Amino acid sequence: MGLRSRARFSDMQLPPNLRQALAQATAQVPLAALSDAAQDLSQRYRAQTSSSASIFPSDVHRLAYATVRMPATFAAVRAVLAEMARLMTAQQIESVLDLGAGPGTAAWAACDVFPALQEITLLERDHGLITLGKRLAQEAAESRLSNANWHKADLRTQTAFPTADLVLCSYALGELSGDAARQVWQLAWQAARHTLVIVEPGTMKGFALLRTVRQALIAAGGYLCAPCPHTAECPLSAEEWCHFAARVERTALHRRLKAGALGHEDEKFSYLVFSKQPLAQAKNRVLRHPQRRPNFVQLQLCTEHGLETLSVTHKDKEIWKRARKIDWGAAWE
Ligand SMILES: C[S@@+](CC[C@H](N)C(=O)[O-])C[C@H]1O[C@@H](n2cnc3c(N)ncnc32)[C@H](O)[C@@H]1O
Repeated sequence: MGLRSRARFSDMQLPPNLRQALAQATAQVPLAALSDAAQDLSQRYRAQTSSSASIFPSDVHRLAYATVRMPATFAAVRAVLAEMARLMTAQQIESVLDLGAGPGTAAWAACDVFPALQEITLLERDHGLITLGKRLAQEAAESRLSNANWHKADLRTQTAFPTADLVLCSYALGELSGDAARQVWQLAWQAARHTLVIVEPGTMKGFALLRTVRQALIAAGGYLCAPCPHTAECPLSAEEWCHFAARVERTALHRRLKAGALGHEDEKFSYLVFSKQPLAQAKNRVLRHPQRRPNFVQLQLCTEHGLETLSVTHKDKEIWKRARKIDWGAAWE
């Protein structure tokens, strides 16, 4: 049994200027072509192996990807970076390196969270995604991204990455084979002047990869800031996976491409935030959707003593207010 209950950090949309740029970029493409490309892309993703070359056969596929996936990965990365910013109040982030950047989604989230961010470097192997990323940044008039350094590069063949305050690897590490992924996270850690953030799909596979990275970076002397409140062995069993969810508002086009009636979707993700300097760490983390009854809330927590269940009733005056409002994924202090 996984930790599967539905919940969310908060409802999220792409920034308005990016939404507008995406709408402009897709305006001239027939809906049927975008819809076929979106379906073809999901099949390609399912069949993908770690040695595959880029899975985007055309620019319409790239636009379909940006329409369907950018809002979800943006929401996941933004939620993670907001948690990181909450834990590191004293530290400014002025530079970012985005590895396997796609159209620049994670860098967009970083721009949204870190106002002092100036210098952005993005590494991506698919030339067409780089072109799309540059076009979106320009049309959205996001100068930090339109002035960014985009490099066409295969992460697997690099021997070092450019350094940055914050290194991001979002939904990309899992596309590499075990050995290549290890090389990339080791180089990513070396390149991080302050923090390394890795986000993966909230699946057993995504979490298994992060469990391995977690062990390795703790052994390498990294300070684990989130989501774990401790550096002891992960208390989850082999059948469980630690993941969270961000609720994403769907645009009308997104709904049509996904043939979905709902105005939103819940993006499941797993993540790690590691720092080079000791940072605040959450005392406890809410691991599942809180069970709420009238006058009663039950929280499943990951704590420094392992997994714990905390039951709070309305009589526990001091903590009742917080317990009533807390969400899956939040820190419980
Ligand atoms: C699922 S997309 C994620 C894109 C973006 N980071 C995001 O969060 O939306 C994975 C990206 O990693 C890139 N990628 C995969 N393997 C790569 C490699 N070996 N070198 C460089 N980029 C790679 C793909 O081209 C794709 O853009």
